[in-house]
Amino acid sequence: MTVTSRQTDHPIHDQFTDRWSPRAFTDRSISEAEILALFEAARWAPSASNNQPWRFAYGLRGDEGFAKIAEALAPGNRVWAEKAAALVAVASASTVERNGEVSPNAWHAFDTGTAWGYFALQAHHAGLAAHAMGGFDAEKLAENLTLPKGYVLHAVVAVGERGEAELLAEPLKSREAPNGRRPISETVGRGGFK
Ligand SMILES: Cc1cc2nc3c(=O)[nH]c(=O)nc-3n(C[C@H](O)[C@H](O)[C@H](O)COP(=O)(O)O)c2cc1C
Repeated sequence: MTVTSRQTDHPIHDQFTDRWSPRAFTDRSISEAEILALFEAARWAPSASNNQPWRFAYGLRGDEGFAKIAEALAPGNRVWAEKAAALVAVASASTVERNGEVSPNAWHAFDTGTAWGYFALQAHHAGLAAHAMGGFDAEKLAENLTLPKGYVLHAVVAVGERGEAELLAEPLKSREAPNGRRPISETVGRGGFK
């Protein structure tokens, strides 16, 4: 479906404007193969020294992993996200080991953001939607998923087939639409930052 409310000032591929983050999901479940294909897309993200610092833990609706992630969500997110078909916790390894020496990886968050972006676009191509959330109890999530030392949690992502806004209660129902962006001129400067 093309989202017509999102106008661009320059021509770009439709995938960028057609992808958005819904809160309404249908009850369609997704298979292991479907979710693995999204991780496959994330796998091919570029990263500093090809370190691939991203790490993911996931659950499919109804399984124990899903419940462990859902339990850590902020109530305002849990109310809609636990209806999704999958929940994915996104983390990264903040250090790298080379020749037995451990040093900080300054780009772990940058690279993991790219991987999540690839994941989200692949979900869109597969007819699914991925909605990232920063609203979760990081301590609880780390405990529930046995997050290894040196790893940093970034987000939880709800994945599923987008449903109609009518599936939501207010105030979420009336907010269920693609949003816009500030103009490029506010974020991009030629020769220097704005
Ligand atoms: C790191 C991150 C954290 C976010 N946290 C939340 C959240 O806690 N709850 C929520 O409903 N949406 C959350 N969002 C979704 C954003 O609000 C959404 O991506 C943004 O408004 C742009 O809309 P779009 O993704 O539909 O284009 C988050 C997105 C990102 C990338």
